[in-house]
Amino acid sequence: MLRSVRLTALAPRLRAGFASAANAAAAEEQDVVVIGGGPGGYVHAIKAAQLGMKVTCVEKRGSLGGTCLNVGCIPSKNLLHTTHLYHLSKGYFEEHGIVVPGEGTSIDVAKMMESKQEAVTTLTRGIEGLFKKNGVTYSQGWGKITSPNEVTVDLNDGGQEVIPAKKIVIATGSDPIELPFMPYDEKKVVSSTGALALEEVPKKMAVIGGGVIGLELGSVWARLGAEVTVIEFMPAIGAGMDAEIAKNFQRILKRQGLKFMTSTKVTGADTSGDGVVIHTEAAKGGKAKSLDVDVALVSVGRRRFIDGLGLEDVGVATDERGMVLTDENFQTNVPSIYAIGDVRDGAMLAHKAEEEGVVLAEAFHGEGFALDYNSIPSVIYTSPEVAWVGKNEEELKEAGVAYNVGTFPMAANSRAKACGYADGMIKVIADKETDAILGVHLIAESASELIPEAVLGVAFGASSEDIAMTCHAHPTQSEALKEACMAVTGKPIHF
Ligand code: FAD
Ligand code: NAI
Repeated sequence: MLRSVRLTALAPRLRAGFASAANAAAAEEQDVVVIGGGPGGYVHAIKAAQLGMKVTCVEKRGSLGGTCLNVGCIPSKNLLHTTHLYHLSKGYFEEHGIVVPGEGTSIDVAKMMESKQEAVTTLTRGIEGLFKKNGVTYSQGWGKITSPNEVTVDLNDGGQEVIPAKKIVIATGSDPIELPFMPYDEKKVVSSTGALALEEVPKKMAVIGGGVIGLELGSVWARLGAEVTVIEFMPAIGAGMDAEIAKNFQRILKRQGLKFMTSTKVTGADTSGDGVVIHTEAAKGGKAKSLDVDVALVSVGRRRFIDGLGLEDVGVATDERGMVLTDENFQTNVPSIYAIGDVRDGAMLAHKAEEEGVVLAEAFHGEGFALDYNSIPSVIYTSPEVAWVGKNEEELKEAGVAYNVGTFPMAANSRAKACGYADGMIKVIADKETDAILGVHLIAESASELIPEAVLGVAFGASSEDIAMTCHAHPTQSEALKEACMAVTGKPIHF
């Protein structure tokens, strides 16, 4: 049991100044102290404990699961699911003979948010259960690295503890980037966190940044009736996805009612009235325009979070944007300190953070160290979903790699057609000489469940012919992947 000294009356900053103070309680030395209880940190803690290490996970939020479970993946997927069902009730039901008596369906936003919170609470508490089951110590408070082998925690319920550690793992994640001229009030100018908790459906909503968050949360509120305009600086939405897929995806979202202003930069905003007036001009410069909305969601990316961690004091190197610099073993320039997840290099994805957590625990245990970043999938959970793995055409062209492409439209897939989910396509890119699969890009209702087969293909160096020759159950959307593979060097059957 860790003990603490009570310092409740002190302001947090003042308390931080007491790091390593003589009157803070010293805890038992740990093999590993992980700072951050998100998918990177909590998964690492569990795996390390399973491998026999003495582990403490420090988390300041008051609940485990990090951004992902509290204000990210889980609440957004809950709202995407609820609003998808609602959206179906507004057209799909009638087309398929489902009659709703009376005036039709309506949405109770408060109840919807309650159900979202229930999902979050159940899952975050579940991680506390997993900590107990695996013998991970959970220290609730703000962690600061006070020496290469010591973490000092300002405990949430007051007091401080000093935890000696053989190794320290930084897993402090990321935070939304703020535009300097429109700070978040989480009511009118919202980050993803505010957009997951609006109390009513805005009449007009601007989404600044047409990447993953903007498209997912823009879809949520558009399905409930908001007039959503996505303002994107680049010529295409999707933050770097395959250009052909991005174009098709934008067309589908447009049909769903989202409006797009691409190649557009936001130059300023006026938040003094009831709503927000957003000033824009063409990205290359041009005539200024303004847009009046009730709510503006700013989703222009996330920044690595290292505030108050004490990295400068112990000499851990970061880049100018706060990314903790590590080598391929996730080790920083201070040998006892490591970093995983959003806070280090690479995609800001929960499953990437989790994989790094597991691999690092195994490395501490003396096992091999390997993570294939090329086979980490990406998914946008709209309807239809978009998913991809490996390289896109633009990347291969730039690298001068010769390739073949096979495509298959979801409209020609019997399962998708039977269910009225015919929007989308599958695109498989394979090496021209060896036929090894280089990239797979999907727009399909169940793209998130189809992508693992492609991930396996990329990870194991399968050829498109391998998938084309594998029997797929009928009728499934996965047959469309098989047919796209058939199209790489030959012809599909059904198109
Ligand atoms: P985080 O989850 O950010 O966790 C870091 C934790 O560290 C936080 O809980 C923080 O409170 C804590 N912390 C920070 N500093 C300290 C300190 N000094 N002391 C103690 N604790 C500290 N990814 C997906 O793969 N799929 C999705 O569907 C998806 N949806 C998303 C939706 C939204 C709206 C958002 C915002 C993100 C989404 N992501 C998704 C991204 C995903 O949430 C992150 O990639 C993932 O959470 C990163 O995990 P992490 O452990 O590195 O950091
Ligand atoms: P993002 O990087 O996905 O998209 C940001 C978009 O904003 C880009 O298209 C960029 O060109 C644009 N942009 C940047 N500055 C701009 C400006 N000033 N004006 C207009 N447009 C501008 O970032 P996003 O959506 O904020 O998400 C952050 C991270 O969270 C992502 O990296 C993603 O990995 C993760 N995430 C993952 C999800 C998933 O896996 N389904 C869901 C949500 C978030």
